Amino acid sequence: MTPIQNPSQKTRDEIAKAYASDPWWYDLRGFLILTFAYRSTLWEQVDFFGKNIAKEHLEVAIGTGTLFDIILKWRKFKRMPPAHIIGVDYAESMLNGAKQRFSKHPEIELNHADVANLPYPDDFFDSANIANAVHCFPDLNSGLIEVLRTLKPGGRLAANVLLYPRGSKISQWIAQKINNWGIRKGILYTPYEADDIKKRLIDTGFEIVSEKISGNTYNVLAQKMLA
Ligand SMILES: C[S@@+](CC[C@H](N)C(=O)[O-])C[C@H]1O[C@@H](n2cnc3c(N)ncnc32)[C@H](O)[C@@H]1O
Repeated sequence: MTPIQNPSQKTRDEIAKAYASDPWWYDLRGFLILTFAYRSTLWEQVDFFGKNIAKEHLEVAIGTGTLFDIILKWRKFKRMPPAHIIGVDYAESMLNGAKQRFSKHPEIELNHADVANLPYPDDFFDSANIANAVHCFPDLNSGLIEVLRTLKPGGRLAANVLLYPRGSKISQWIAQKINNWGIRKGILYTPYEADDIKKRLIDTGFEIVSEKISGNTYNVLAQKMLA
């Protein structure tokens, strides 16, 4: 496993505090990070995560729900089946944004929770997504254990993970600058190597269903093994 190189080593509370910012800046910053650090697109994310929402769904680290809202609209447009959703986030400021956004959605329940300590029973969810957040968790292994525990056997986790910068020198330089800023600020814990994430998932008890590296992003779909 690649050692985590995060000189700031922020705690979950410091990370939650780092996320408190004006919604307009959060969204603009998100677009720049998506384009130049992840080297991904909104469409890629909507398509990837939109397909992994089953009847009882857990949206981990939902943030203010900007992306999730677009995903739900896309699913409705595609006439995909409705789902009951539980969204969690550890930053109260982010969660409050999601609560406002989804105030007229009775099918979405929003709770304050740390991914490393989920307040849900074993074998509860049919699916779980972690969008743009694996690399923000200070204790990723505990988070994966908790997601596995709360998924039903056969339930699937979709996650995208920020990788150490790849590609041309200039794009690596830009991504590295953004990552360094994110780590200093506390909104990024560390980027990863794809093999490291894959090994952590398998060691936790997931089997890999599909995986793809695109830009600086590792998109992985993993399944809780059938009992
Ligand atoms: C980059 S944002 C992604 C938000 C949303 N999923 C999206 O794609 O727009 C990362 C989110 O992870 C949340 N987060 C960080 N550590 C967490 C933890 N330990 N448990 C739950 N959420 C956490 C942050 O509060 C933040 O909302």
